[in-house]
Amino acid sequence: MTRYFRTKFVETSSSHTYCSMNLANSARIDNVGEAAESLGQLAHGGTPQNNPVYARLHNDTVAEFEQAIADLEGTDGAVAFSSGMAAITAVMLAASQTGDNVVAVRPLYGGTDHLLADELTGLDVRWATPETVGDVVGPKTAMVIAESPANPTMDLVDIERMVRDVGDVPVVIDSTFATPMLQNPAELGAELVLHSASKYIGGHGDVIGGVVAANKEWAQRLRKIRVATGSLLHPMAAYLLRRGLATLPIRIETAQKNAIELAGRLVEHPAVEKVYYPGLPECDPEVIVFRQMRGPGAMLSFDVADESMGQVVMESVDVITPAVSLGSTDSLIQHPASLTHQVVCPEALEESGITARLLRLSVGLEHIEDLWRDLDFALRRASRLHERSRGTVIH
Ligand SMILES: Cc1ncc(COP(=O)(O)O)c(C=O)c1O
Repeated sequence: MTRYFRTKFVETSSSHTYCSMNLANSARIDNVGEAAESLGQLAHGGTPQNNPVYARLHNDTVAEFEQAIADLEGTDGAVAFSSGMAAITAVMLAASQTGDNVVAVRPLYGGTDHLLADELTGLDVRWATPETVGDVVGPKTAMVIAESPANPTMDLVDIERMVRDVGDVPVVIDSTFATPMLQNPAELGAELVLHSASKYIGGHGDVIGGVVAANKEWAQRLRKIRVATGSLLHPMAAYLLRRGLATLPIRIETAQKNAIELAGRLVEHPAVEKVYYPGLPECDPEVIVFRQMRGPGAMLSFDVADESMGQVVMESVDVITPAVSLGSTDSLIQHPASLTHQVVCPEALEESGITARLLRLSVGLEHIEDLWRDLDFALRRASRLHERSRGTVIH
């Protein structure tokens, strides 16, 4: 499977100084007229002429990170937020100015599903599948939102086809699992590309942030909302995220290599019923991965044989950390039905195949044999405890 991995180099990563860091929360004003002019620009989603005035409105360190993301995604610009959820909220608020409904394709990250299902943004939310999305959009649809690969089932959306099916309606793709290394949705026609930067972009599990890559008009709308709602990324986080980009290709390549190997071994494991991984032909019968990604990534999920086993597996791993989040140097395992997707309504969970038997694994950079030994031990222990209660044991 490694044959179709091609690294997308981060051109901006070669410098020894990743970027400057400016932590001041306001700028010295020597010329009131110039500052007033900047403030006027910023309030309408522009960038400052001279003086950034106040750090909730603009920060140069954040702007450097945004430029690096725009370069990687091939868009005019990018707008960075204090979290992935703040980015999604801003996108929805921007959508509410251009229509009265959004069409959402499940599965989505539980937090996104919650935001949309509870209609917290005031938008009427209509649910669709990749197959029905063209019929669900209407004249007042402001936007279509989808994840690819999707959290936690790794479903792939054929982005080019979806863009074609919905005509003029802008499509936003949450590309968190792919990162700009493996997929560039804007090249496939998506108008907005969103990342929870807390994941692979930061890469070390120590920062929260979100970013949206977009054309000039959308970027301006989003900046205006960011100024008004106070959701600018913190400059320290921007610095860490910008630094994270320098190692993103090598982290993705190593973690993906591990994930390909683990997916293949898990398919054969007696305690595992099904593996969800875009690199497995059975998970991607239309072979979308070849068409729109440079590799299947380092996220995978799997069903264990019985509901009782998920918790035991999580409590039995040692090298792998039982934790939510993803995209870190270390491998993380979690139980979506209890944790990240607990807020999703039962019908949607069932439709998306997110059962109590599903575990999600964010594969990290550890040695493959350490990971496998750990996972195999946890699975066998869970299986033994389960089978013991039924009178049969897997050796
Ligand atoms: C696919 C996806 N999108 C968005 C988010 C939200 O990002 P954040 O946690 O940075 O707010 C997450 C979080 O797990 C996610 O997995």
